[in-house]
Amino acid sequence: MAEGNGAPSYERIDCKVEVMDTPYDRWASSQGIDVIRGFFVDDLYTMPLKWWNRLGGYGAYIMLDGTGYLDDAYVCAIPPGKSLNAQRHMFEALIYVLDGRGATTVWQSSGPKQSFEWQTGSLFAIPLNARYQHFNGQGDREARLLAVTTAPLIFNLFRSEDFVLNNSYAFTDRFSGEEGYFGGKGVLYSDRVVETNFVADATSIEPVAWTERGKGNATIFFEMAQSMMGSHVSRFPVGLYKKAHRHGPGAHVFILSGKGYSLLWPEGKERIRVDWTRGSIVVPPEGWFHQHFNSGAEPARYLALKVISRKFKLQPGKIQSDVPLAYGGWQIEYDDEDPEIRRIFEEECAKSGAEVKMPKFPWQRLT
Ligand SMILES: [Fe+2]
Repeated sequence: MAEGNGAPSYERIDCKVEVMDTPYDRWASSQGIDVIRGFFVDDLYTMPLKWWNRLGGYGAYIMLDGTGYLDDAYVCAIPPGKSLNAQRHMFEALIYVLDGRGATTVWQSSGPKQSFEWQTGSLFAIPLNARYQHFNGQGDREARLLAVTTAPLIFNLFRSEDFVLNNSYAFTDRFSGEEGYFGGKGVLYSDRVVETNFVADATSIEPVAWTERGKGNATIFFEMAQSMMGSHVSRFPVGLYKKAHRHGPGAHVFILSGKGYSLLWPEGKERIRVDWTRGSIVVPPEGWFHQHFNSGAEPARYLALKVISRKFKLQPGKIQSDVPLAYGGWQIEYDDEDPEIRRIFEEECAKSGAEVKMPKFPWQRLT
């Protein structure tokens, strides 16, 4: 975990959850690659990987404390000019291309194959239990992918590796080899939410203003491959920060660009700080407030990968993380936050030469 700078008043607390011995844990441990646990990983680009026989490449699992065993993540690398083994599984998977250029072929047992090309920054989903294979399109360098999946949920629900990995059921209502399935065409599902099966470059896609979450914030959500998982890209400009909020487990926040930090705390308890840069990943634990800050001199953006679909909800009702505490929700408005939060932000921006553009404390009341 990266050590925080300039925040001596925030002592770290140990937030590790007990390492369980579930069917998922036993399966992950049997893969012959590292299973990274804890709260935060500082750089997925340089994280060491080991040979992963099942996939025919290199990899490492990332099972962070905040997942609530709903989801997990892994990083895998495809050797230069090679492909990974074909696979299928009864858990959902969202895939972000950390680095490289290549292609993926997806098919059902009967029906045409669909192949599409990807590059650094691409985001896509594998339709549930479809067969697929990744290919590295470059002969002189590896390709590195990040996957976030529902493997813990599914392994622990069915407790059968054979059922999860060798299941012949084809969800043709989700994917049946349709031409153009991964063509990148998008349909607006609702405000800020786009249904698409392929995003060419999450690092440059234009998000939509969403100031309810914070001054200058802009976000775009994705619903992919009829999955129960969701994702979104959030961008925040220099000198502004987003409001604190809390929600359920399993939201993997991966930093696409920029430099900053996040504060995370259970209600009434001490805050934990993680300092991040491009390549860092953190999962806020269930019910913990968390707040992300761009303290650098350049805009920052992150990609959140999670088991929250706006189309296929596991639980009915409005998403409370968007609603202010005063209205029974899970978001802390600027007026209600601890002034120490603003002080630290100003201190960090001064270090990087970033101009603070937030309104004067106590916010709108004096401006
Ligand atoms: Fe969040």
